[in-house]
Amino acid sequence: IKLWKNSIFSSHFFVSPCLTKLLTYFLGHMTDLINTEKDLVVSLKDYIKAEESKLEQIKKWAEKLDQLTDTATKDPEGFLGHPVNAFKLMKRLNTEWGELENLVLKDMSDGFISNMTIQRQFFPNDEDQTGAAKALLRLQDTYNLDTDTLSRGNLPGVKHKSFLTAEDCFELGKIAYTEADYYHTELWMEQALKQLDEGEVSSADKVYILDYLSYAVYQQGDLSKAVMLTKRLLELDPEHQRANGNMKYFEYIMAKEKEANKSSTESEDQAEKETEVKKKDYLPERRKYEMLCRGEGLKMTPRRQKRLFCRYYDGNRNPRYILGPVKQEDEWDKPRIVRFLDIISDEEIETVKELAKPRLSRATVHDPETGKLTTAHYRVSKSAWLSGYESPVVSRINTRIQDLTGLDVSTAEELQVANYGVGGQYEPHFDFGRKDEPDAFKELGTGNRIATWLFYMSDVSAGGATVFPEVGASVWPKKGTAVFWYNLFPSGEGDYSTRHAACPVLVGNKWVSNKWLHERGQEFRRPCTLSELE
Ligand code: OGA
Ligand code: FE2
Repeated sequence: IKLWKNSIFSSHFFVSPCLTKLLTYFLGHMTDLINTEKDLVVSLKDYIKAEESKLEQIKKWAEKLDQLTDTATKDPEGFLGHPVNAFKLMKRLNTEWGELENLVLKDMSDGFISNMTIQRQFFPNDEDQTGAAKALLRLQDTYNLDTDTLSRGNLPGVKHKSFLTAEDCFELGKIAYTEADYYHTELWMEQALKQLDEGEVSSADKVYILDYLSYAVYQQGDLSKAVMLTKRLLELDPEHQRANGNMKYFEYIMAKEKEANKSSTESEDQAEKETEVKKKDYLPERRKYEMLCRGEGLKMTPRRQKRLFCRYYDGNRNPRYILGPVKQEDEWDKPRIVRFLDIISDEEIETVKELAKPRLSRATVHDPETGKLTTAHYRVSKSAWLSGYESPVVSRINTRIQDLTGLDVSTAEELQVANYGVGGQYEPHFDFGRKDEPDAFKELGTGNRIATWLFYMSDVSAGGATVFPEVGASVWPKKGTAVFWYNLFPSGEGDYSTRHAACPVLVGNKWVSNKWLHERGQEFRRPCTLSELE
């Protein structure tokens, strides 16, 4: 059973650039890291206290001796004429100064350093830091965030505002640079420069920034801007070797381009225009997905809106719901997506989360080539499975799904609980297994995933929508609600319009829990129709 549990047959036609391994980190140990850091701060403070009290003792000694030596040097003979003074001088020099020396040499940092050594093994490494940076750049793209907004931490719904220093921006730019991502290199180097120009005190160096920036700009083909930036660099450091070399090179290329422009033909212009038109017409899925995540490109027309209703639903005269029907809203018409409101209580959510927490681990997907379960950048979340046997709450939830969908849950998979941290996402995929794939659900013997029930167990401050790029629909998480849709037509044929994705969380944390219902057991509950795609 473990073999198929986490598997999802994702036919993703594109490979997402950069939600990387670090996101695993994000989800895995981020809260532990906060505690680690807190611990270190406590022991650092202890160290400071110890060091301060040591310095205090040394200071007192110095003051005492200062006075004493003052009097003594003024009248050495008179001073030593007192036998006690003579004795004390001997004692001081023979033992007390030695003791002081020991005190000065005493290492107070033991506790802190050993704590640091222990904790260091849990620290993130370079790869993790790069991953975090890349995740930030990815979120910037998906949500079209302006660099300045991101740097000043002006994100919607944030509880703990945080901003980036010029140094941080420089760091992000450098990471983009090492990825040959000159677009982001330019954005972030420019931001670093802007913050320095505004007078931010920083160890970041304008010359370095301009060096990267001009190169990134050059790589993107804006020669005149590259020249302008290089000039600016040379004003700060006229001897800069690379900049001087680049300047000559830029001048050379510009001269060559001028030459070439003269002889360029009109047909080339025409060809260029044509490819531009093509570019506009063709929107790859990734673009559609990201637009929907931002709340753009929604295909909700007044005509469609008119067909969507809300109602009280009694589960088709289910005895458990006749007296207390539930609120149901149509989210979309084709594929039909409905949302149930107030369908899981806060207490139930808490129970489900508590049961899942100790078991949450990085969600995996089915590798179509090897048939094995692996982690993938296109699915970044943590998940756990809850059985109806282990808790009356889970069992009650399963029954609720059965009552309200009219489908048999005995053939369904266990309740899956998923948690998405910042950057957590699940790129466009189908929940059902396609004909051309090795049968993922064979072992189960319950057929394909006929339908999906998805509880939203938290609100999300920003991002985290469930979107359907094929049809231009998006569903926003709302705590206590659930959405339901059929993945298969009654004939058993897969409904490709159900392709969907979980948008990356921008701010906050997203909890969902879902039930995948299977074909077996539904033969009389959802009989086949005459046509295949009906
Ligand atoms: C899934 C899924 C959507 C979401 O887990 O298969 O599509 O919004 N989740 O979490
Ligand atoms: Fe899904």
